[in-house]
Amino acid sequence: MAGIGTAALRLDGPAKVTGGAHYGSDAPFGKPLYGVLVTSGIARGRITAIDEQDARAEPGVVDIFTYRNIGKIVPGNIMDGDGYMGTSIAPLASAAIKHDGQIVALVVADTFEAASAAAYRLKIDYAEEVPAATFDSPGTETVAGVVASKKHKDPAVGDAEGAFAGAPVKIDAHYATATQHHNPIELFTTACSWSGGKLTVWESSQNMWGAKTGLALQLGISPDDIHFVSPFVGGAFGSRGSLTQRTAIVALAAKKLARPVKLATARDQGFTIATYRAETRHHLKLGATRDGKLVSVSHEGFEVTSRPDNYMVSGTDASTRLYGCPNVASKVSIVHADRNTPGFMRSPAETPYIFALECAMDELAYALNMDPVELRKVNDTQNEPIKGLPYSSRSLVPCFDAAAKAFGWSKRSMQPGSMREGEWLVGWGTATTMYPSNISASTARVTLFPNGTAKVQTATHEIGQGIYTVCALIAAGKLGVDPANVIVELGDSNLPPAPVSGGSNSTASVSNAVSKACDEILAKRAQGANGAIEAYAENIPKGDPPDAIRKLYKGQPSFTGGTESKDSIRFAFGAQFVEVRVHRLTREIRVSRTTGAFAAGTIVNPTTARSQLMGGMIWGISAALHEATEIDPRNARYTNKDLADYLIPVNADIGDIEVIMIPEEDSIVNPLGIKGIGELGNVGMNAAVANAVFHATGVRIRQIPIRLESLLVA
Ligand code: MOS
Repeated sequence: MAGIGTAALRLDGPAKVTGGAHYGSDAPFGKPLYGVLVTSGIARGRITAIDEQDARAEPGVVDIFTYRNIGKIVPGNIMDGDGYMGTSIAPLASAAIKHDGQIVALVVADTFEAASAAAYRLKIDYAEEVPAATFDSPGTETVAGVVASKKHKDPAVGDAEGAFAGAPVKIDAHYATATQHHNPIELFTTACSWSGGKLTVWESSQNMWGAKTGLALQLGISPDDIHFVSPFVGGAFGSRGSLTQRTAIVALAAKKLARPVKLATARDQGFTIATYRAETRHHLKLGATRDGKLVSVSHEGFEVTSRPDNYMVSGTDASTRLYGCPNVASKVSIVHADRNTPGFMRSPAETPYIFALECAMDELAYALNMDPVELRKVNDTQNEPIKGLPYSSRSLVPCFDAAAKAFGWSKRSMQPGSMREGEWLVGWGTATTMYPSNISASTARVTLFPNGTAKVQTATHEIGQGIYTVCALIAAGKLGVDPANVIVELGDSNLPPAPVSGGSNSTASVSNAVSKACDEILAKRAQGANGAIEAYAENIPKGDPPDAIRKLYKGQPSFTGGTESKDSIRFAFGAQFVEVRVHRLTREIRVSRTTGAFAAGTIVNPTTARSQLMGGMIWGISAALHEATEIDPRNARYTNKDLADYLIPVNADIGDIEVIMIPEEDSIVNPLGIKGIGELGNVGMNAAVANAVFHATGVRIRQIPIRLESLLVA
């Protein structure tokens, strides 16, 4: 009977390709009004005047909302401080402008066209101050991470400085990664409708229970009076994990006007009203013996954040623990600039931090004249170096062995520029990926019907990862029914809560809760129950705080895993291999093929797992060669806020991709042994591409995305 490990097609696939899947702006509200946002034209200063006359004269306009008729709602409701928003700037609260593209008005009209025309005619005057755009801009403020955030730690052990001074082989280098935006294809939309004091919100979300709790705080009503609906999510990648300012404004407009209001923001507005990946800089110092054993690892990171918020990427948790080394130092600082607040974007911490470490490891391999794969093996460890805790499982070497074999790595010649094919310089590069294996408390209700069908209900989120199918497989395997006969209901805050679908925790958290509910059904049946048998289960992972379920019901999951556990350290691992071809004269860079091997415990559905890992690998290529949000240093404004100028790869940019899943058993991470793979696939890929470009050309580029002109100048 089908169950865990069955390669199953997505149960929601047909609905998605026939238009049957409904997203936020598809909310079935009769006779809605339409909202359009107006966003700030300056990055720092104040609104001095708003002239609504022309805008209100536009036929069809119903109302205009600004700070003058909204005012302070709930300031400081940010995730950092146990809140729910991605920014501490309260929606339409005051005349103050903290970043370019901040929401300054919501225009509501009978039609989208009328609202758009009126938004265009709204006149807003500003008193502008000179903004600081990014690193090195005058007026930024640098703050140590341990000062900025109570949660941040700078992992360290031994004497990294002393060991570096005495090391026979050293690397001392600086790396940088660009600002990036998620750009999910589904735009940021919100639809709100009130009925008898109860609010229904259609908004694609990664955290419905969090969104409803956070919105209730903002509106001063009970969370029980808010119903969040999000059956499908058209891309999230972290951008829908926290509330943005728009939701409360739309809710207030719908309440005042006593009509449903739908808002669909424009693509360019998505760059400033939601979160994004912070720009980062890194200073890496590696010291090693002549046979390649690391004796010192030092990682210093700098991250751009907004003026008011202390959002931190904090990737040294992983980078200081990847390899065995007795002396480790790290320090992270944040740099406040006049930007919107960054936030989670697929493998938020590991993407930039492991990039820096894995490029430095490649440089070390060349300094040692040692094969880069061999260097990773020499420094492999089953105990993390900071506290000496054992990895719950770690199959990095089997990943390197399998991927290297499939890729044909043994045919590589070490010398850069030595593998040519006609006009093309061929380069082969590699890097490690790692990602914490998280699990949170989660709940589910399962019903088994006498006719052999079953129903699974849990308020998790289908963000594209295939969780509908995962839920069906778990229940089918446990209850002995066909997965096609399992109805899965999710994406609705009236269902039992599941955690935020972030940190690659959902499959582990939700599967274990569904499995537990199925066990209770089987127990009830064994005790003689008949008819429809229903069970509600709460799965509380070992090591979770005692109030984990209470917090889950407030939309605040408590993650165990990664470096959070006292007795072990829990990560999934993988090995990335890349072939690039760089044109001898033009320096055009092409990725011709990639191989990744990953070990992440139990794989529930190999079909969707493969897609997810592949998607991650593609995003890694994109990060290395394409994606960057550019900012104008004069006015702190993003200059490529659209999908024409924000580069992403198309099919022709992506060559062959091979995904290998290495079997791995881990009974420590959770009863089902699931580690999570949503973010594992993209980590390390950026470094593997950069390392391959070095191998092709002999030019070491330490900043991504890598541009043709950097190779030409060199
Ligand atoms: Mo993901 S960036 O953990 O939502």
